[in-house]
Amino acid sequence: MRLTFPFQTERVGAVRIYGMQHVFELDCGHLPAHGESGPAWGTTVAQVVCRDLRSIHERMAIVVPCKDERLKVLEGVLRGIPHDCLVILVSNSGREPVDRFAMERESVERFCRFNQRSALVVHQRDPGLARAFEKAGMPSLVGTDGVVRNGKGEGMLVATALARLAGRDFVGYVDADNYVPGSVREYIDCYAADLFLANTRFAMVRISWHSKPKPVDGVIFFNRWGRTSESTNRFLNLLMAHLTGFGTEAIRTGNAGEHAMTMELAERISFASGFAVEPYQLIDILERYGGIELPETTEIDGEVMHEGVEIYQVATLNPHFHEDKGDDHVEGMTRAALSTIFHSPATPGQVEEAILSYVNTHLEDGTALEPVVSYPPLSSLDWEVLEEVLARDAATLERIDKPGLSRRGAIT
Ligand code: GDD
Repeated sequence: MRLTFPFQTERVGAVRIYGMQHVFELDCGHLPAHGESGPAWGTTVAQVVCRDLRSIHERMAIVVPCKDERLKVLEGVLRGIPHDCLVILVSNSGREPVDRFAMERESVERFCRFNQRSALVVHQRDPGLARAFEKAGMPSLVGTDGVVRNGKGEGMLVATALARLAGRDFVGYVDADNYVPGSVREYIDCYAADLFLANTRFAMVRISWHSKPKPVDGVIFFNRWGRTSESTNRFLNLLMAHLTGFGTEAIRTGNAGEHAMTMELAERISFASGFAVEPYQLIDILERYGGIELPETTEIDGEVMHEGVEIYQVATLNPHFHEDKGDDHVEGMTRAALSTIFHSPATPGQVEEAILSYVNTHLEDGTALEPVVSYPPLSSLDWEVLEEVLARDAATLERIDKPGLSRRGAIT
């Protein structure tokens, strides 16, 4: 893959947010332009050859959060995931009257059998899974009904913990409702390219889709930004401007559902509930490592402050064709993102007022923005207890290995 050197850099404390990178070539040939090995930063473009992409794939888990998506679409997504990545399907699909999870599990099993691959599958509402997180030190993840709470963020948290237990050094996320398997491949290669080029153990890569096409009056319109992203990015950039003293448009991926990070970073940050998860990551990173003096900041992580956090943003070539879930869904997502920014102690009064004015004028539901639910970082978990209780109690957790071998409760 050949992609641009990120030209613009915003620095806030130990956090560097790079401007948008563009993909020049999906496949850039065999050898780096400047010799046999080593990273291939040119002056304006970076070249990451297949061998180097693969060296990251082999160490990466790809999480597919799924809730009642069409099976055929999910199967396409799985086929787009590079061979060496470990697939982790975390499903919150209905089990009655039809057991959709059983169908998804079977699809993953067939996918692994035919392609000689490995995967983990688990159902988010498995009581044994909840017990494991409770016992390992994260009872807040479990609702009053005794199972892990509903939500995409919760599913991602669970799957990230599984990726850590499986020994993967990187974790990436791709939605299950994507109609174009080739775009999944491109997202994951972008993750791998930037994670290969990263200069720190604490790096994140966020995808900005080329476009989100929709039929309008009988023709396909390639819309650049979704409605949620537009407002989230605007207010995150206002917050950045407040922190740095300079106006900016650096943040273009506030809602990036498709993103990846090093496990070292994933373990240290908080996951938020539902669709707040992606903007919350940025806010949480700024609060923890942005050098901002906040009453809530309890301890400084010297390692991260010293090495720094890098946030890469990449604009892909493929458009993102996915399931359209309607206006209410978009509004819910927008409110979750805006709540995250609104309730951050880093957000100044003027930005809070601008958010409130936006909510009142642009959203159907203009009621108060409730604070977002978030969970302690994964590093607070007792990993031994988690693994032990999962193996014993999580009835839906399964490791599927080539050739067609599957083991209940196993992770490695
Ligand atoms: N495990 C699990 N649990 N998965 C879930 C849950 C849940 O409770 N809710 C949704 N998902 C899965 C969906 O099945 C899908 O694969 C993925 O999470 C994204 O959910 P969608 O409902 O399809 O979201 P979207 O496509 O409207 O929004 C996506 O793009 C936004 C950026 O525009 C998401 O990735 C958002 O998180 C992102 O901000």
